[in-house]
Amino acid sequence: MNIHAFISEKVNQAMLAVGAPASYKVQVRQSVKTKFGDYQVNGIMTIAKQLGVPSYQLAEKVISMLNLDGIARKVEIAGPGFINIFLDSQWLATQIAIALASPRLGILQYSPQTIVVDYSSPNVAKEMHVGHLRSTIIGDASARILEFLGHKVIRANHIGDWGTHFGMLIAYLEKVEYDGELEIELSSLNNFYRHAKKNYDIDPNFAKKARNYVVKLQCGDSYCLQMWRKLVNVTIVQNQKIYDRLNLTLSQDNIMGESMYNNMLPDIVTDLKAKGLAVESAGTTLVFLNEFRNKDGKPMGVIIQKKDGAYLYTTTDIACAKYRYETLKADRIIYYIDSRQHQHLLQVWTIVRKAGYIPETVVLEHHMFGMILGKDGKPLKTRAGITVKLNDLLDEALVRARCLIVSKQVNVDLIELERLAQVISIGAIKYAELSKNRMTDYIFNWDDMLSFEGNTAPYIQYAYTRIVSIFKRSTLNQQQLTGNVYLENEQEYFLAVRLLQYEETITTVARYGTPHVLCAYLYNLAVRFSSFYEHCPILNADNDIQYKSRLQLALLTSRTLQQGLNLLGIETVEKM
Ligand code: ARG
Repeated sequence: MNIHAFISEKVNQAMLAVGAPASYKVQVRQSVKTKFGDYQVNGIMTIAKQLGVPSYQLAEKVISMLNLDGIARKVEIAGPGFINIFLDSQWLATQIAIALASPRLGILQYSPQTIVVDYSSPNVAKEMHVGHLRSTIIGDASARILEFLGHKVIRANHIGDWGTHFGMLIAYLEKVEYDGELEIELSSLNNFYRHAKKNYDIDPNFAKKARNYVVKLQCGDSYCLQMWRKLVNVTIVQNQKIYDRLNLTLSQDNIMGESMYNNMLPDIVTDLKAKGLAVESAGTTLVFLNEFRNKDGKPMGVIIQKKDGAYLYTTTDIACAKYRYETLKADRIIYYIDSRQHQHLLQVWTIVRKAGYIPETVVLEHHMFGMILGKDGKPLKTRAGITVKLNDLLDEALVRARCLIVSKQVNVDLIELERLAQVISIGAIKYAELSKNRMTDYIFNWDDMLSFEGNTAPYIQYAYTRIVSIFKRSTLNQQQLTGNVYLENEQEYFLAVRLLQYEETITTVARYGTPHVLCAYLYNLAVRFSSFYEHCPILNADNDIQYKSRLQLALLTSRTLQQGLNLLGIETVEKM
């Protein structure tokens, strides 16, 4: 149950009942301090001012109309007009039982939307680097959560598989195939790209051939298309290995690269011209947008076709957005791209709205993010000053996780050790990413992410294994857990409240694409469990009723931790 939504609804009903206009909304929040109850209503003071009545009096009237019978044990006014709500233990206990009885932990499915999630989207003939890590990991968590809530999620991997640089890449592919060096060259796509570029820069004959191949490729020449396909395939296969290593839900079926929209581009340009949105100026086609201004204050011109006929990244994104609405029938389109492309997206959206390609009812969102920085505060690089490749990063994480497990003397055989190292390393990297507010840059730090203390994956995974071990030592199995749940102790009570805030947490994450909110939730849940376990003996409970009640709380905690981590794309293990 979404307690937050329920209380908000009730409070707003009470506001209407006391005569406040419907547009005057108060905010309900989870209380930060326990003395303020479990939820707090804010905003009464502002509304009282607007209505010209004393705020305390308004708060009193709202409380008299507020029907939280059975749910709240106490509702009180704090300060000049805050309302503090304390939940009722018995009601909480009933909700715990309901959650435990359901495989979805009592979480409802919402009226389903079709949601396109654009994420990962690396470029062909280049290796994925840490820059793609955020989009890939946050996008995947977001897709999982939306799907869990019942939406139809279409994962769109908008790979950069088209553009004029393919002339150079094809010419180089041809050269290394001829020289018999294909294998070596393709083993490192970054080198391949660099060598191709070098040949292009220093060898005029090579450059001429490359330019010729650009034209041929665009005209659908079968040889060039075949060579292009080869490059795309090699990249896709390499990337898929990384996706699988990272335990992502992305597959090759999700690839909808730039090339897919190529055939639509001429019509888009013609249409934008016919609608008077695009104009030609000295052979270049542009859309002038009043919403964006140049340095000199004039409307900005966004180029959609160059003099030589080539289309741009923007043109492709216009076609792509149109396709997602018209063909994929998206109600909502979310882009996980770094913040440097924000203006680009805003321009694309302004154009698709003006052209009438996408109605206002369809939501377009840029869930942007900052950069991953090294300890020096600059974009993360290797010691040699090169951008860190994802594969190398994952290798290092694995080595570090193995050392960590060995140093902790976890009693496992070699096969288990490998599996554990995998789960811990991938979990740590993903969680480090997911637990930060995506809007900010963050400093990459191995020690922090692999720590068993604090807001880390190992801490939460470990909390999960502790509960597993309680059940191993208990005489009861999960089916035998009958009887009521009793929240007698304050630790039991606070654990129960937190457990029941799971739904509102994932609803928030689904709405704003902020997995760090779920991370903070799971971390806090693990902390509350720890304090509960310390103060409320389970296996040595006073009596059978208490024993079963506490085991039920432990069980719901372990299920919530496990499901929550899974929604983030992180696995659990039974012992560590
Ligand atoms: N390939 C781009 C890059 O690596 C990201 C593409 C994001 N998606 C989009 N629809 N533009 O920067």
